[in-house]
Amino acid sequence: MTRVIAFANNKGGSGKTTTCANIGYSLSTLGRRVLLIDGDMQLNLSLSFFDEDKVLELAAGEKNLYHGIKKQEDLSDYIIRTPYDNLDLIPSSMLMSGMEYELFTMWQREMILKNGLKKIKASGEYDYILIDAPPTLGGWVMNILCASDYVIMPVEASPWGLFGVANMFEFLEDVRKIHEDLQLLGIAITKVDARKNYYKQTCDILRGTEGVHVFEQIIRVDSEVEWAQDNSKPISVHKKSARSAGEYMALAKEIDERWQ
Ligand SMILES: Nc1ncnc2c1ncn2[C@@H]1O[C@H](COP(=O)(O)OP(=O)(O)O)[C@@H](O)[C@H]1O
Ligand SMILES: [Mg+2]
Repeated sequence: MTRVIAFANNKGGSGKTTTCANIGYSLSTLGRRVLLIDGDMQLNLSLSFFDEDKVLELAAGEKNLYHGIKKQEDLSDYIIRTPYDNLDLIPSSMLMSGMEYELFTMWQREMILKNGLKKIKASGEYDYILIDAPPTLGGWVMNILCASDYVIMPVEASPWGLFGVANMFEFLEDVRKIHEDLQLLGIAITKVDARKNYYKQTCDILRGTEGVHVFEQIIRVDSEVEWAQDNSKPISVHKKSARSAGEYMALAKEIDERWQ
């Protein structure tokens, strides 16, 4: 069975892309077959696995998410292999910035991504499809959530990180009007600076929110994250002993255990 999980939070910089990329990689090393979908015009998920020249070449070509959605095609043809076993990707394009406008005239416009993934999901070729969402709450993110079974919401452990959570919860309620089975799998607390006590308050507030699951494993600030991204590599490929590499692996196991 293929589980589709969106990484979404309208707050930019909350760790969506870093979490999606490193959970995806960790799951792939556990033997799960993973398809990653870069849903953001900033191309950051694609840049997590390929260098800038390659990502720009993919973005300028015809085989990226923008064209697949615009032509409303089966997205099987848009999948590329990453350098890692069990880990594939549908890359993005800067043209995704115009997606809200493109969707506007499409029939059943909330369901285009869901329809594009139908064959891939039915084939059972992947255990997980992980979708990296942009920091917006509009028709395109509605598409991402309608195509998903679950949402993981990365939240940065900061006062402003918490500020956006209520908006996101309201948006999830809106999505459930047309996709009632959508579940919040959990909140992942990211970018924790353990030298500051503030993060404990963020954790307490979130863990005290009724009906919301917060993953046990938190992700702390680690300078290796940016070095890994600079090298277009998952953290544990860049530096196996990095603290965040271990934290992402533990979080991936926590997610995966839900179905074992
Ligand atoms: N655990 C971490 N430690 C240090 N920096 C991080 C960590 N997680 C994310 N970052 C950095 O924070 C910024 C935002 O993260 P990103 O994953 O791009 O967030 P989003 O996709 O929500 O905008 C990036 O520059 C990234 O390198
Ligand atoms: Mg991002």
